[in-house]
Amino acid sequence: MVENTVDPLSNSINVKPKAEVNNLNFYYGSFHALKNINLLVPEKQVTALIGPSGCGKTTLLRCFNRMHDLYPGNRYEGEIILDTELNILGRQVDPIEVRMRISMVFQKPNPFPKSIYENVAYGLRVRGENKRSVLDERVEQALRGSALWEEVKDRLNDKAFNLSGGQQQRLCIARALISDPEIILFDEPTSALDPIATASIEELMRELKQQVTILIVTHSMQQASRISDYTAFMYLGELVESGKTERVFSAPLHKQTEDYVNGLIG
Ligand SMILES: Nc1ncnc2c1ncn2[C@@H]1O[C@H](COP(=O)(O)OP(=O)(O)OP(=O)(O)O)[C@@H](O)[C@H]1O
Ligand SMILES: [Mg+2]
Repeated sequence: MVENTVDPLSNSINVKPKAEVNNLNFYYGSFHALKNINLLVPEKQVTALIGPSGCGKTTLLRCFNRMHDLYPGNRYEGEIILDTELNILGRQVDPIEVRMRISMVFQKPNPFPKSIYENVAYGLRVRGENKRSVLDERVEQALRGSALWEEVKDRLNDKAFNLSGGQQQRLCIARALISDPEIILFDEPTSALDPIATASIEELMRELKQQVTILIVTHSMQQASRISDYTAFMYLGELVESGKTERVFSAPLHKQTEDYVNGLIG
């Protein structure tokens, strides 16, 4: 059992919380994967989720856009409050609505077998938007937002699979941006990319956080310290501590955190 002490700094975050996780438990059938998680996610900042393999990072991330609803037997307890008012885990809340506001980018770029244009337009088409002028404008805006526009503007009808890995990941970010989300969830978004493509995604995150709140799972301590403002460390389904990234790395409150950031466990 990890001792669950409240991080004094997480209570003195001086930016507005975009989301507040309160006493969150999550079960895959009878397996208790998340144990009483409490976390503040500051608005328009990058928060990194770190911790050893299997500790529950992906499970926690997927609670934020109700991905677990897609499989029977999964169960949430507790709350994730958005903008201090809406519990997105509430039964009356439509998961599709949640996914409009909180979008996700996965570990491996996963474009659809469609053109570059249609990959990005997809999120609007499924909502019934088919007006060409509207689609053109929003697709361009999303591709500019993911720093891909200049590279693809003359080949929008090409298959998305013809893009490089790093370009495909930026395409997936454009796809996530099209619904104008308030939070973007990234699950190890650069682990399949080379250092140059990784650097461009990291640069992009620095720009994106002007407008959106970012929650990112990463295995790289260097990445967490380069791009995140806040860090939360998880261990065996529990949230051990969270706070300013600098503080979590330089003065961890718990032995598990210290061992992990120093590469002794992982
Ligand atoms: N669909 C599932 N059914 C049952 N158990 C699951 C399922 N998905 C994950 N788990 C279990 O939940 C725990 C947390 O898994 P999770 O994928 O969230 O870990 P993680 O921290 O993202 O690990 P990694 O760093 O390896 O991606 C693990 O013990 C895992 O085996
Ligand atoms: Mg994972």
